[in-house]
Amino acid sequence: MAKTRGASPSVWLMANQDDQMNMTQMNMTKQNLGLPIFLALGALTLAASVAQAADISTPAVLAGSCSTCHGPGGQSPGTMPSLAGLEPKYIMTRLKEFRSGEAPATLMNRIAKGYSDAEIEALGQYFTKTKP
Ligand code: HEC
Repeated sequence: MAKTRGASPSVWLMANQDDQMNMTQMNMTKQNLGLPIFLALGALTLAASVAQAADISTPAVLAGSCSTCHGPGGQSPGTMPSLAGLEPKYIMTRLKEFRSGEAPATLMNRIAKGYSDAEIEALGQYFTKTKP
């Protein structure tokens, strides 16, 4: 009698622990799925807002992505070429040459591919005015 009573709660306990483990695993699976979906949605939203931000009516925003290398307002603090104050036509020609692969480049050939003629024009007009 004592044996049976002793065994049965522990069996119940083990079974219960198993259940809890399964529940935990299920929750973890749900969380593991939830996070990537959340991140993917976030990335999509970000991409959409970047696409909206890259509007030729706001050249300063369009030019913002150039400042990482060419300095704020195209005024380079280092070895990268400055863009500030260059002739719009020069900037536009250079960008189109990079885009077509005509001009040798390490980075600009890939970067320029992301810009339309209208955006290149807006960038040229923007950087010519940023010289202090
Ligand atoms: C990741 C760094 C990087 C970014 C971002 C970048 N550039 Fe450049 N840019 C370079 C490098 C490096 C060169 C020299 C050519 C090469 O090797 O690609 C260059 C050269 C240029 C030149 C030629 C300058 C000259 O004196 O002839 C122009 C014009 C230019 N970039 C415009 C832009 C514009 C406009 C943007 C933003 C849309 C931009 N760049 C973003 C790195 C960058």
